[in-house]
This record gives sequence, C-alpha cells and structure tokens, in this order.
Amino acid sequence: MPTDPNSSQKPGTFDVEGIRKDFPILHQEINGSPLTYLDNAATTQKPDAVINAVCDYYRHMNSNIHRGVHTLSQRATDAYETSRATLMNFLGAQNPAEIIFVRGATEGINLVAQSFLRPQLQPGDEIILSTLEHHSNIVPWQILREQEGAVLKVAPVDERGVVDLQRYLELFSEKTRFVGLSHVSNALGTINPVREMVSIARERGVPVLLDGAQAAAHQSVDVEELGCDFYVVSGHKMYGPTGIGALFGRLEQLEAMPPYHGGGEMILSVSFDETVYNQLPYKFEAGTPNIAGAIGMGAAIEYMENIGIDAIEAHEQSLLEYSTSQLTGLEGIEITGTAPQKAGIISFNISGAHPHDAGTILDQEGIAVRAGHHCAQPALESLGVQATVRASFALYNTFNEVDRLVEGIGKVQEVFS
Ligand SMILES: Cc1ncc(COP(=O)(O)O)c(C=O)c1O
Repeated sequence: MPTDPNSSQKPGTFDVEGIRKDFPILHQEINGSPLTYLDNAATTQKPDAVINAVCDYYRHMNSNIHRGVHTLSQRATDAYETSRATLMNFLGAQNPAEIIFVRGATEGINLVAQSFLRPQLQPGDEIILSTLEHHSNIVPWQILREQEGAVLKVAPVDERGVVDLQRYLELFSEKTRFVGLSHVSNALGTINPVREMVSIARERGVPVLLDGAQAAAHQSVDVEELGCDFYVVSGHKMYGPTGIGALFGRLEQLEAMPPYHGGGEMILSVSFDETVYNQLPYKFEAGTPNIAGAIGMGAAIEYMENIGIDAIEAHEQSLLEYSTSQLTGLEGIEITGTAPQKAGIISFNISGAHPHDAGTILDQEGIAVRAGHHCAQPALESLGVQATVRASFALYNTFNEVDRLVEGIGKVQEVFS
C-alpha cells in the first residue's frame, strides 16, 4: 500500500506514470472523466511499441511468409519466426517447434482436445478439470464427452475459491487420461498451485494442459519448471493484438499428434493420393497465419521484459492489496474470491445493486470494469453468486485509479440507497 494514497505509484519502485505514456488509449476522457481502465482480464491495452510493430509490418514488410523468394517475404518470415523465438524464451520452452501460433487460448485448448486427446479416448475415459475454469477450458472437453463418451470430473473449491487439493487427488483413477487447469482464475484471481497439481498428475502418467491466459502477463512462467505438457496464452491479454495466441506443447506430444486443420503451409507435398505433412510447428499452422498479430505479440513480450515481469507482478500485487483493503473497509461490499494467492483481480458485489447496473454507473464516471459471470459460471455459482463486478489490474494502473473506483462505488451506493 502506498504511504500517500493520493500518490499514483509506490514511491521509488515502479515508473507507472512513465509507463502510462506508452499507452495512447489511456489518455482520454470517457463521459467527461479520465478513463480508468480496470477491465484488463478481458483484454489489455496496447503500448506504442506493439501498435508500431503492427503498423511497421503493414507499412514496410507486408507479404506472405515461408514460401516467398522475394525480400519482403523473407523480412516478414524473419519477423514472424523471431516472435516465435521470443515466445519460446518467454515461456521457458526449449525449442521453437514447441510454439504453435493460434488465435488465442481458446483455439489452443480446442487444438489439444481434438488433436491430442480425442484420438486416444475410449468411452468412460476421464478428464479432470477444476471448478475455476473459464468456459474455454470446459466446453472443448464437453464436446469430447459428446463425441467420445468421455467423463468430466471436477475438483471443487472452498469458500475462498481455493482448489481442494485432497479432493483433486482423489479424482484420479486408472481411467484418468487428461487434466486441464487454469493457472490463474479469471473470475476470482486465484493462483492455482499448478506445479503441485501438475506433479500429482504426472506421477500418475497423466498429461496436463495449463490455461495461462490470465497468468503470462502477470507473473513469470516457465513451462519446464511447471512440468506441464501444454500451456496456452492469448496475445491480447498480454498487451498484444487480438486474434493471436500461442500453444506450447512438448515436442514428443506434438510430434505424435495429427494435424488440427488441413490446408496450405501445413504440408510438405500434396497429391490426390497422398499428402505429407510439414514438420513442427508448421504442421499445426494451416493457411496464412496472423502474421501481424504474431509480430505484435513478440513486441508485447519485449515490452514487458524491458519493464521486468517481476516488477510488474510486484506492482499489481500492491494494487491488489490496496484495493482489497479499501473495499474491505466499505460497508455493503462483498468480495468473492479471497484465496491467499491471488493475481490482480478483485471480484465483488455491491449490496442492492446488480453488477450490470453498478458497471453502467461506474462507466458514467469513466471507470471500465467487467460485470457478469466472466465466462466462468461454475466458478461463481460454486461460491453462491451469479455475477460480480470485476476490477482487474495491469502494469499501467495506479493507486489513484483504485481511489476512483472506491469513489465510483460510493456513487453506485448513493443511487441504490
Ligand atoms: C482463464 C481464461 N482462459 C481462456 C480465456 C479465453 O481466451 P481467448 O478468448 O483470448 O481465447 C480467457 C479469456 O478471458 C481466460 O480468462
């Protein structure tokens, strides 16, 4: 917590005002008030470095990749593959072939469900998830249930939104074929003890996918250390463009998997009798990819790395602590999700006000928050709520903005008093 709550940053630690200058969108008024953007778990804003990287691609190198002999195509290919290498290093992977560009976390999970798990499944085989999952890490497995007769087993959470590890462990059986877990819950902010959860699965020979959509921009990720088989991220939740994300997969798993989509790029040769698939990672990148998006995502990672992911994490943790203490002190506020290990996400309800109404009134004050079930209905329902207001922090948020949120909540309470 800052010594002076009116200061916009923790003294001497993090140049948040300097950082804010990098984000052009932040410098505007919404409904006559300065924009206070607290919807970062839905999508983050983009720094000039990312906007310029995307513009630069279209201004100076736009062309198709991998198959061109001309200079522009080679430049675009180099930039695209450089981004893959950046992602590989960022996630702690060992080989660029382990990084597949996809549309986002959602597509990465669907790819693993259909290409990795589906061919191995027998009716009655079991998939373990947790209650905290985003719908993106529920529905693809339900589709497998419809297609192959798989059984979904769900690890419950306690009243704080912490996964019950003992109950998780008890879900394993000789029929368990897969585990899918969020690294960080988008609805509650809970950071799952994924290293421990992965190791429980791997001791039993069960492969694990971690959904890192809410983790990768907020704490350092090392897939080797985590021990997972698959890890998915979304570019737009880490200061990069929309429509791009990445799937990390262990080489031996990806090698053994059939392609997900068929088309150009993913082949070495095609005849009507036989097609020979391309090597990794191209086997999984059919068609012309989102070249500008991949380049923008690489620029976003470089931007975060220049600031330092540990410094970003510490800043967001300070904002979480400060906002939690401020909201806890207010009457009529119920915080949902009180895990001891949380990322910068605070979900709450204001007594007497529906979250959508609260969100609309906050918007009148220029404050952007999320209101609803956050695509995680089972997580909220398990804690006895249908919907919440969610404020989620990013590296450019300030303590002043938390104060503005608190004032905005006061306005909501006035309206509904
Ligand atoms: C935890 C989690 N997983 C997956 C997703 C899906 O990400 P995308 O829509 O970018 O594919 C989200 C998006 O909110 C998320 O928060």
